[in-house]
Amino acid sequence: MDKIIAANWKMNNDFCDVKPFVNYIKKNQKNKKNLVVCVPAVMLKTFADEAKGLVATGAQNCYFAEKGAFTGEISAKMVKSAGAEYCIVGHSERRHIFGETNEMLNKKLFACKNAGLKVIFCIGEVLEEKSKYKSVLKKQIVEGFKDVTDFSNIVIAYEPVWAIGTGKVATTDDISKVHGYIKAFFKENYGVDMPVLYGGSVKPSNSKDILALDEVDGVLIGGASLKAEDYIAIAQSR
Ligand code: PGA
Repeated sequence: MDKIIAANWKMNNDFCDVKPFVNYIKKNQKNKKNLVVCVPAVMLKTFADEAKGLVATGAQNCYFAEKGAFTGEISAKMVKSAGAEYCIVGHSERRHIFGETNEMLNKKLFACKNAGLKVIFCIGEVLEEKSKYKSVLKKQIVEGFKDVTDFSNIVIAYEPVWAIGTGKVATTDDISKVHGYIKAFFKENYGVDMPVLYGGSVKPSNSKDILALDEVDGVLIGGASLKAEDYIAIAQSR
């Protein structure tokens, strides 16, 4: 399988960036398999229309209810109908800035699955939890995946919170070790081979080493995904 190269624009870039970004990929990237770009919600339709058949479009979040009086929220079904294929669930910024709990994320996971979206489910420990990462990740998985029986179309993104946007990357040994733990946990407890992406300060200068690891099934890129040149440089290092 071609490793997944997923971009997370967060609250960056604008409508005017969509077309040049997609055109750059069209011209410069031969292997277009498993490319995903998660854009701000208002840009989903524009990006999906431009990138149709070339790059998969993803949302960065959605609400778990199907519809109703939830001012400012968007449903998984709306995300899907805008042309998106993927949705990120449980990014650490959602957990830490917006207070999303494992229980909420579990509901979001079901909402996305029910809407036919593929899920990038993020887990990760903060710096103070680094030494006890196993128990932190285990809790995020057990509570986040409560009652899940269909594990298809879900990938985990392991993003140590201390490595996000900080320039501090986990060592390749650490990444192998933690990904190995996550994969073994899914195998032993749910009987599934779960793909695991790495995220946290991935950039063109370190992506080759990270993507070369057997335990790494792809990357989730924030800052270095904003410019098509950097995003494609990372895709070409797989
Ligand atoms: P970063 O963000 O690449 O800017 O560290 C990664 C992420 O938050 O997904």
